[in-house]
Amino acid sequence: MSDIEEVKQRSDIVEVIGGYVPLAKSGRNFRGLCPFHKEKTPSFFVFPDRQSWHCFGACNAGGDVFSFIMKKEGVGFGDALRTLAGRAGITLRERVGEKPEEKEKLARLYQINQAAAQYFHEALGLPAAVAARQYLDKRGVNQKSVADFLIGYAPGGHEALKRSLVELGYGESDLLLAGLLVKGDDGSTYDRFRNRLMFPIFDFQGRVTGFGGRVLDNAMPKYLNSPQTPVFDKSRSLYAVNLAREAARQADSVVLVEGYLDVIIAHQYGFQNVIAPMGTALTQWQIDIIKRLRLGNLILALDPDAAGEKAMLRGLDYKKHLETQGILDDSPEVKDADKLADEGVDYIDTENRFGAEVRVAVLPAGEDPDEVIRRDAGVFKACLEAAVPVMDYVFDVVKAGLNVKTPKGKTEATLRLLPLVAEIENDTRRTHYLYKLADMTGTSYNKLDAEASLSRLKSRPGLRRIPPPQADRDLKKALSSPLEEYCLTLLLKYPDLMAGFSGLDREYFEDTRHREIFDAFRRSKNLAEMREQLDEALHDYLDHLANASVKAGAVEGKFKQCALRLRENYLKRVAARRGQALAQASGEVTPENLAELQQPSQEISERLREVERQLGGRQRPGQGGTRWT
Ligand code: UTP
Ligand code: MN
Repeated sequence: MSDIEEVKQRSDIVEVIGGYVPLAKSGRNFRGLCPFHKEKTPSFFVFPDRQSWHCFGACNAGGDVFSFIMKKEGVGFGDALRTLAGRAGITLRERVGEKPEEKEKLARLYQINQAAAQYFHEALGLPAAVAARQYLDKRGVNQKSVADFLIGYAPGGHEALKRSLVELGYGESDLLLAGLLVKGDDGSTYDRFRNRLMFPIFDFQGRVTGFGGRVLDNAMPKYLNSPQTPVFDKSRSLYAVNLAREAARQADSVVLVEGYLDVIIAHQYGFQNVIAPMGTALTQWQIDIIKRLRLGNLILALDPDAAGEKAMLRGLDYKKHLETQGILDDSPEVKDADKLADEGVDYIDTENRFGAEVRVAVLPAGEDPDEVIRRDAGVFKACLEAAVPVMDYVFDVVKAGLNVKTPKGKTEATLRLLPLVAEIENDTRRTHYLYKLADMTGTSYNKLDAEASLSRLKSRPGLRRIPPPQADRDLKKALSSPLEEYCLTLLLKYPDLMAGFSGLDREYFEDTRHREIFDAFRRSKNLAEMREQLDEALHDYLDHLANASVKAGAVEGKFKQCALRLRENYLKRVAARRGQALAQASGEVTPENLAELQQPSQEISERLREVERQLGGRQRPGQGGTRWT
């Protein structure tokens, strides 16, 4: 992972551009007045899915987050990179590009996991899996869910999966690396998952990254998960995020529950925007993913007992502190506070990290979501609808245990709630709850505000902060453009290809790195000159492209086809976005802007037909059009 990629991933284009241009939500996308030309009707769009922008008006230009900053600030690539890095809190360092061996290894692990998932899934049909099928039945999981979630069964014995996958040609060492085998003391290897119900864990692109395996009885551990592997990290997984994506967007909310079965049952009953972390508190990475995928508002569906306890955590910490100073005498259950403190993120942290209001849906006491839903899906639905902002929920919990009519109760409530309110980073929300607390306790707002400021000052340095997430592999994949890379590698290796060729334009490259390199290529006679032209930040990447291997022979044909394909993708992108833009703008379409909006799209479709005619005459490598290597 290079600095550039990390910066790109950690810079949410909507946030960045939103800092310059007021943006309004328009379907999945965002629109505003183009900052690069004067206009009255917004024709400037930002597309979070591809992390790109485009002006369909006079500019008819677009690109990624780097090109936006370059254009807006009038700076070169390096400065744009440094600006965005600073903004995202990333320290740029010299790093080597990701090695091809590394990429191959990851691809192999995904493949193995997929094969294993398939194997477990099929094994669920074996006679030996009768208990597993009965268990699923007992838990109310239907056939469709079994298929949708690719639920499976890991047979007993010690080598069922191992034998089957080795037979398919996978190496033992890779199976170990994937966490599917474990090594015994004598050096022999055997299946990690035995006689368990298997839940493959997918990333948001639908690749199997790991597994959770549940026992069929009361044995321990209840769930055995894949260990950390190069493709699996518990703290970076969200169960069912691949399946929930679309529904979450449509509902503009994503619901978080605790367990695998809660998710499965929720989906089965039509709550398809439900996901779960892997039995841990939400990590910054997971929150980032929810934000980046724009899944919408976050609702935590919680068991009220556990939720209430956690909500009290900060208050208890604070009380303990006062006690040790001899300020308070009656002792709450401090032991619990210690235990809970280890659980990591609390609500206010979650909300601060999420950057928007998080709501809590309180479930009937003592019931898991899967039980509530199976008993009465309407109850679950009502709970979600009644979800309240985290802080209001915390207020309710605290208030329920006290008599806030009495001076003692008021003091107590302030002691518990003020430290929590003080930690709310958003000024508007903090002010709101300071007023609420003032109202509840009959204290003056100013006094509480002053105390809160003090408390903030004191607690700031001690706040538990999980270090910022590493750049995310999956997003990287989603944002990568192998066709662009391939095209440039060809050019760098065979510079004569461009002689007299005009079928390639800088705009066809969506990735600013590629645009920069293409520009430099056109202005230079050789690689050394290119290096000089390019910002230093791009040198490693230039080498990476120049050293990538391509099969010799017929390079001219390959190159022309590659250029055509880039052109095709470009035109399709523009046409598709135009379509979206038009559909979303429809409310505000005026006779003039309608003509303006429609006219170039005819031109685009003509150009697209032309490209397709030319491509059609030749053989197409691959189907998706991006698999050239
Ligand atoms: P729960 O204990 O609440 O389990 O753990 P559950 O999902 O409700 O399980 P059922 O309903 O008894 O089948 C919540 C989540 O914590 C993780 C799993 O991700 C689980 O879904 N967990 C739990 C583990 O990883 N290991 C365990 O031993 C227990
Ligand atoms: Mn459960």
